[in-house]
Amino acid sequence: MKALITGGAGFIGSHLADHLLTAGHDVVVLDDLATGSLANLSSISDHPRFRYVEGSVLDEALVNTLASGVDTIFHLAAAVGSFVIRDRTLQSLRTNIHGTENVLTAAHRHQNRVLIASSSEVYGKNTKIGLCEDDDRVVGSPLLHRWSYSEAKAVDESLTHSYVTELGLQAVIVRLFNTVGPRQSGRYGMVIPRFVAQALAGAPLTVFGTGAQIRCFCHVQDVVPALVALVDARDAYGTAVNVGSTEQVSIADLALRVLALTGSSSDVVHLTYEQGIGAGYEDLQRRVPDCTRARKLIDFRPTRTLDDILRSVIDEQSRPNLVRAAVR
Ligand SMILES: NC(=O)c1ccc[n+]([C@@H]2O[C@H](COP(=O)([O-])OP(=O)(O)OC[C@H]3O[C@@H](n4cnc5c(N)ncnc54)[C@H](O)[C@@H]3O)[C@@H](O)[C@H]2O)c1
Repeated sequence: MKALITGGAGFIGSHLADHLLTAGHDVVVLDDLATGSLANLSSISDHPRFRYVEGSVLDEALVNTLASGVDTIFHLAAAVGSFVIRDRTLQSLRTNIHGTENVLTAAHRHQNRVLIASSSEVYGKNTKIGLCEDDDRVVGSPLLHRWSYSEAKAVDESLTHSYVTELGLQAVIVRLFNTVGPRQSGRYGMVIPRFVAQALAGAPLTVFGTGAQIRCFCHVQDVVPALVALVDARDAYGTAVNVGSTEQVSIADLALRVLALTGSSSDVVHLTYEQGIGAGYEDLQRRVPDCTRARKLIDFRPTRTLDDILRSVIDEQSRPNLVRAAVR
């Protein structure tokens, strides 16, 4: 495989780059370092089958040129994280809609296979336990920045679906649920790296809202092989596929588990959403996937537990000289 990974200097993209190089493939990464980091690529930067290009998916000509040299595109570049969406809503919409359209156009022109990274956010406030790919979206006003990421990812999905059904593009949409592991930054609102950084610093763990919200966290090392298998799964083209863990935990319990595993004596404090994220934020009370489709297509079965995930993040953040931590 000759693969282009957009957003490959980010958390998931850099693990995907490692995985593809180890499997013998060629990898080109396109990233503008908005939330990614060259440190994520430091172990592969000298690899003979690796190339890094700094630039934006909004640069249509650049995306076209890079697509012409590969057979497969993993489109992971996006404005990600509730703080990013809140602070740069317009730019985030542009990146997440026009950037995807540029990738789809180039992939169609050069007949690349494509994986489009979407998100469980498309389900919005639907709290069904075991969300299936065909379930309804339940979202708030498009005028609230809170929903703009969900809106943009939904547009990406519709664009992708149309490219497949009308133009014959070979593309799969993956709806990622919370994905966690080393290299994820807590700076942009991701809860596990944020709690771990707070616990290790002896700072209070800040829970937004009641803490009763339920989430499922999947280790990035379980997610990455699924991405590689899905881009190859012809039966998946034109569909969306959930990828995530089904191990449920409340955010309040998550904070306690982080304290137990770090041995930290930090307090847990509750902030309102307004205090933590800003006005107009509305949280989702529960988000649990049904991954039957992924199991049928690629035998997807995540193996790492939540404690495995927490230990891997704690190990990483405990290393000296790490500047990834976000204490807030
Ligand atoms: N991590 C999760 O839990 C999760 C959940 C659902 C969906 N996703 C999706 O997975 C993908 C990867 O997310 P991640 O968690 O690795 O986040 P990340 O922020 O680490 O990665 C996103 C990468 O895209 C890059 N980027 C942003 N704008 C760009 C642009 N205009 N041009 C080129 N690069 C640009 C960033 O610099 C970053 O490296 C995203 O599409 C995200 O929406 C992630």
